[in-house]
Amino acid sequence: MVGKTISHYTIIEKLGEGGMGVVYKARDTKLDRTVALKFLPPHLTQSEEDKQRFTREAKAAAALNHPHICTIHNVDEHDSNQFIVMEYVDGVTLRDNITSSPLDKWGLQGGLSIDTAISYAIQIAEALSVAHDKGIVHRDIKPENIMIDSKDRIKVMDFGLAKIKGSMNLTRSGSTVGTARYMSPEQIQGGELDARSDIWSFGVVLYEMLTGQAPFQGDYEPALLYQILNESPSPIDRYRDDVSEELEKCILRMLEKEPDARYDSFQSVIKDLQKYIGEEVSSKKPESKPDQNGMSVAVIDFQNITGHGDDEWLAGGIAETVTVDLSKISSLRVVSREKVLKSLAQYSDEKLSDRQVINIGQKQNVRWMAWGAYQKMEVGFVSRHTSPMSRRVI
Ligand SMILES: Nc1ncnc2c1ncn2[C@@H]1O[C@H](COP(=O)(O)OP(=O)(O)OP(=O)(O)O)[C@@H](O)[C@H]1O
Ligand SMILES: [Mg+2]
Repeated sequence: MVGKTISHYTIIEKLGEGGMGVVYKARDTKLDRTVALKFLPPHLTQSEEDKQRFTREAKAAAALNHPHICTIHNVDEHDSNQFIVMEYVDGVTLRDNITSSPLDKWGLQGGLSIDTAISYAIQIAEALSVAHDKGIVHRDIKPENIMIDSKDRIKVMDFGLAKIKGSMNLTRSGSTVGTARYMSPEQIQGGELDARSDIWSFGVVLYEMLTGQAPFQGDYEPALLYQILNESPSPIDRYRDDVSEELEKCILRMLEKEPDARYDSFQSVIKDLQKYIGEEVSSKKPESKPDQNGMSVAVIDFQNITGHGDDEWLAGGIAETVTVDLSKISSLRVVSREKVLKSLAQYSDEKLSDRQVINIGQKQNVRWMAWGAYQKMEVGFVSRHTSPMSRRVI
């Protein structure tokens, strides 16, 4: 494609590829400006009805004119491939920005500064507020669909596309955990969507901007969807201690399972967020938190690194022995084997990551996790311990 001229657009380079096609940087030779072209997969717009729907959605999105919305200039067709001509954004996605934020002291992805996160959030909220006023719900707010240009301004991308994408039934396939992570409970359940569904997804994005972590993190789609529908996000002070309780309450209100309990519009979101610009919160209760759990430990199955499946039985065997031994220490609360097995059930047949071990510890509300690996040697095993409260692995 690069170097080709399609209609009056000369393709300069490939910018990226998402679930819905490829995006190129191009030169509009008529108007002499740089644009971005997004080619949709042909099967999406095959029938006349599909094409009409695509044009309808693009038309509605093209009517949006706002500094924080990526402008749609045109839609066109080449070799029966539909493509969208849009403003070229010289910048990076919010996803790139979050993943390049410094790691925290425990080696996990950190978040953005509070001021940066709130400033981006307000710009995103302004864009969405304008769209909602015109009756357009975005439906696919996620860090991949938000760009930050070279002047540090937000551009919200892909308005109108989620409806077309919905027809691909992507959410049913396992490859879309990335997108499902931002879906509201009513979206998962196939309900009617209004502005409040975007408020939910926006809440997920804001949580992630602040902590570097998504509030709902199941590794498999069923676990993730279960969490979105039933569980509360981990408290933010698990990740950082300078976010005020008021700001956290604000985010939790966006993440209410019931749409009625959320903010009813982005205007009220903006009003609240403005209060937190420049807010400085000194450590809330950093040191006392782990002590609330007293001395407590959960022992999880050890990992078989002998290279022999026959030795697998030892995984639970060692954990059981260690559990029994630790239980003899009267000042120590040891989580029962039964409870640990229940937690482990959702990660069956997998090598647990540090993050998953920490998650199990947080669920069991323990201060320490004990686990390790064993191999065939004269001498026993290597063990590791984790503190879920501080998320340290030592
Ligand atoms: N208008 C644009 N200007 C500059 N770069 C763009 C533009 N639109 C998209 N991109 C780049 O192309 C990449 C792919 O975008 P695309 O929307 O196809 O994928 P996605 O957002 O990851 O997935 P989805 O298909 O769910 O939207 C983006 O990550 C971004 O880097
Ligand atoms: Mg996109």
